[in-house]
Amino acid sequence: MSIHTDSEDVAWATIRATLVPACFSGEDPASALDRLEGLAAVVAEDPRVGGVETRDPTTLEFACEIPELIVYTTPAAVADLSNRVSELAPTLGLQLEVGSSVHNDDSWRDHWKTFYRSQVFGDGTLLLRPSWIERTPSDPKLEVVIDPGRAFGTGLHESTRLCLEVLAGILNRHYQVDAPPLSMLDLGCGSGILSLAAARLFDTLDNIIAVDIDPEAATTTRENAELNGLGDRLKAIAGTVSDLDLGEGFSLVVANIRPKVLIPDAAAIKATVAPHCFLVLSGILTDEASEVAQAYKTPEFKLVASPEQGDWCALVFRRVPA
Ligand SMILES: C[S@@+](CC[C@H](N)C(=O)[O-])C[C@H]1O[C@@H](n2cnc3c(N)ncnc32)[C@H](O)[C@@H]1O
Repeated sequence: MSIHTDSEDVAWATIRATLVPACFSGEDPASALDRLEGLAAVVAEDPRVGGVETRDPTTLEFACEIPELIVYTTPAAVADLSNRVSELAPTLGLQLEVGSSVHNDDSWRDHWKTFYRSQVFGDGTLLLRPSWIERTPSDPKLEVVIDPGRAFGTGLHESTRLCLEVLAGILNRHYQVDAPPLSMLDLGCGSGILSLAAARLFDTLDNIIAVDIDPEAATTTRENAELNGLGDRLKAIAGTVSDLDLGEGFSLVVANIRPKVLIPDAAAIKATVAPHCFLVLSGILTDEASEVAQAYKTPEFKLVASPEQGDWCALVFRRVPA
């Protein structure tokens, strides 16, 4: 999955692993199905997997003659996960045909939503829970409930996860913090996931501005803020960095947007950050990181961390007095 509203960029991926008929003819089909379910359970543990589904002749939706496993993931992870499925299959006595596809249409996202699951960030600090999944007793106390609607920001993508880990890391003092943040700018807010996570993590944050060029994202962010009882701490607007009233700058700025926005808008984005405060950039492939860093690094903007997940990385800057 890449991460923009440009249709060429918005994509999800699926792996389809179909039982080779010769493998289950002559044996108890129920047993082959059980093992396929077992494989599904193992694959579902991988954090890059958004959900798994097994289909067979009795499945209510998408019944199919020959049992198969569908894995929902991102284009970045699809090759690696396909290999894993192929490797695991023989260890469970399964012979599978494994294929994969990337889907660019929005309707796919709505279907995929059915298979979404809760995730935990910051070593057990924060639960990210889809609105249609119940809490369990062992879940972290702090939680954000998300209904991504049609805006980006389910928390599955590496670029979002990197930001969530950095936010939890700031709370857990993995970064040198002078004072808890009072205000936040979430540039390219999508579903509002990062604004809401920050609001949950930092009680001090009562002035959160969530901005997205896509008006639908601003609407989804408002709905998610209400869903979480955080509506009074957040303002979601449709626009870009140039539409903002900066005042003294924000004490936390997060921008999960691709370099084609981050690089040309670098000066404007840096101007949103108050002195001594953090700027978190994400949506960057690791091989794009140095070009983005170059556009931001100055004596005033120190790169303090560049965490990576898969092919993606985030750049964490701190603005220090010049
Ligand atoms: C990768 S998504 C991030 C969503 C969410 N913040 C997250 O981390 O999951 C990037 C978002 O940036 C928005 N966007 C793209 N260009 C923008 C721009 N120039 N100004 C503001 N938002 C922009 C897109 O509409 C999209 O919702």
